[in-house]
Amino acid sequence: SGPDTVSPTGSPTGADQARMAQSGAHLTNAQGTRLPDTDHSLKAGPRGPVLLQDHHLREKIMHFDHERIPERVVHARGAGAHGVFQSYGTAASVTKAGFLAPDVETPVFVRFSTVVGSRGSADTVRDTRGFATKFYTSEGVFDLVGNNIPVFFIQDAIKFPDVVHAAKPHPDREIPQAQSAHDTFWDFVSLHTEATHHTIFFMGDRGIPRSYRMMEGFGVHTFRLVDAEGGTTLVKFHWKPKLGVHSLVWDEAQLINGNDPDFHRRDLADAIEAGAYPQWELGIQTFPDTPDQTFEGIDLLDPTNIVPEELAPVQPVGLMTLNRNPSNFFAETEQVAFHVGHLVPGIDVTDDPLLAGRLFSYLDTQITRLGGPNFPQLPINRPHAPVNDMLRDGMHQTAVHRGVAPYQPNSLDGGCPFTAGADMGAFVETPVTVPEGRKVREAPESFSDHFSQPRRFWLSMSPVEREHIIGAYVFELGKCYEEAIRVRTLQVLANIDPELCSRVADGLGLPAPEPTVPLADVEPSPALSQIGGTWPVD
Ligand code: HEM
Repeated sequence: SGPDTVSPTGSPTGADQARMAQSGAHLTNAQGTRLPDTDHSLKAGPRGPVLLQDHHLREKIMHFDHERIPERVVHARGAGAHGVFQSYGTAASVTKAGFLAPDVETPVFVRFSTVVGSRGSADTVRDTRGFATKFYTSEGVFDLVGNNIPVFFIQDAIKFPDVVHAAKPHPDREIPQAQSAHDTFWDFVSLHTEATHHTIFFMGDRGIPRSYRMMEGFGVHTFRLVDAEGGTTLVKFHWKPKLGVHSLVWDEAQLINGNDPDFHRRDLADAIEAGAYPQWELGIQTFPDTPDQTFEGIDLLDPTNIVPEELAPVQPVGLMTLNRNPSNFFAETEQVAFHVGHLVPGIDVTDDPLLAGRLFSYLDTQITRLGGPNFPQLPINRPHAPVNDMLRDGMHQTAVHRGVAPYQPNSLDGGCPFTAGADMGAFVETPVTVPEGRKVREAPESFSDHFSQPRRFWLSMSPVEREHIIGAYVFELGKCYEEAIRVRTLQVLANIDPELCSRVADGLGLPAPEPTVPLADVEPSPALSQIGGTWPVD
């Protein structure tokens, strides 16, 4: 009674099907009929009018006319690679996820991206980078849809359209492509001070990575791990590059954008082709799953917070190696569809309000981008586990389902047993207690400190990284047309650190304001510095 993912003619699935996209020695039309010529339209005589009956002409042009699909609304520009994840088994005590058990090898596909630019934009702009990984586990697909910066601009997904509108090019002239040199962007982040931490991160060197191979990745949100006994642990995911974390300097980034706008995607593909396979260790920071979901006073549900690695060390749980380039950019890198809700038993979400909105958003946007609800059937998205769902029909349906009707239990369907249930290795939402309260449109009080963590970041930087950050603020704010936005941003910087503020103010030729909040008494976290970072690199 399950679905059948072979084609109606019984042709094989997956790699075989991809090969069959082009087969045989003869050029044919889409129906398999051989063609004598594909360079001349059918005409009434060599100099006569083209005939409407020329099906080959119409089929060829019709298909070409529809070759493009909408680019992603964010993260449109990206590059992908296939690989393998080898687990160390070190996470087995905190999660029952099969792919994290000792010595399990799981195929993966990773897509790196910039956030703001369009599909054809340049690679080395100052921006956050996406780092999305699809694990094709034997228990279903697990997607870790992260960034190269461990915090996010906003604390509640309801502001996501707003921050993206502010960062995207202006609606009248569609400039600028670069997120950071932008009045509306700086207007937004100076008015929504929860964005301060993310902003200082990407004014730093992480905003212009040297290579995708040399970036960290972060799940950003706190997730929940579940062990075999049902015990839970809160967790933050980290990818640590074996090559270390390296960045460009601003002048290099500018030159490369002009000389080779494909710099990052070329670097990734060339390295893999040459056998210099990039590797990352997956690491976890774990925290007790206490009712208040805080650790050392840090609210774990606030995605603008990190937990310093000095307080909660990152423990390595496996190694990812990217070892194969896509053979077709469109089929793989463009059609891949990640989703934070693609979870496997042993990994669950928390009540981070940003994560809740993401759980809705990705599925919704992919219906438009990939033309209907059947994109999980595309080869790059197909799970490497048996699929027996009750989803039917719809645009671009390729499965030929059997059985009488998709409802369960079903006594007419040849006695098909209804084999669902928690004891079947199913994904079961963790029955955590939900705090009681009034329905409100409010953030918790613990989300209101917007400056302590940015101050920790600033204090953790080496002198050269501080110079880069000052230079970046001066350059980007110098491009704003509105002086009021520069002045307001200086106030934000004053609340982080007086030296940072006065140096940027000098660069802009403006007076440095006094802080409006007491400067936070925080310890630096050397692991945040690319120069002082502590991760062991072989
Ligand atoms: C795409 C990361 C927050 C909506 C992406 C991608 C990444 C990513 C890596 C690219 C995926 C790919 O390569 O195909 C993140 C992170 C976030 C975040 C780390 C915060 C921690 C949000 C929020 C929303 C959102 C809050 C909406 C409420 C989208 C959409 C796409 C996207 C619509 C395009 C998906 C597609 O077309 O397939 N995000 N994102 N993101 N993100 Fe996010």
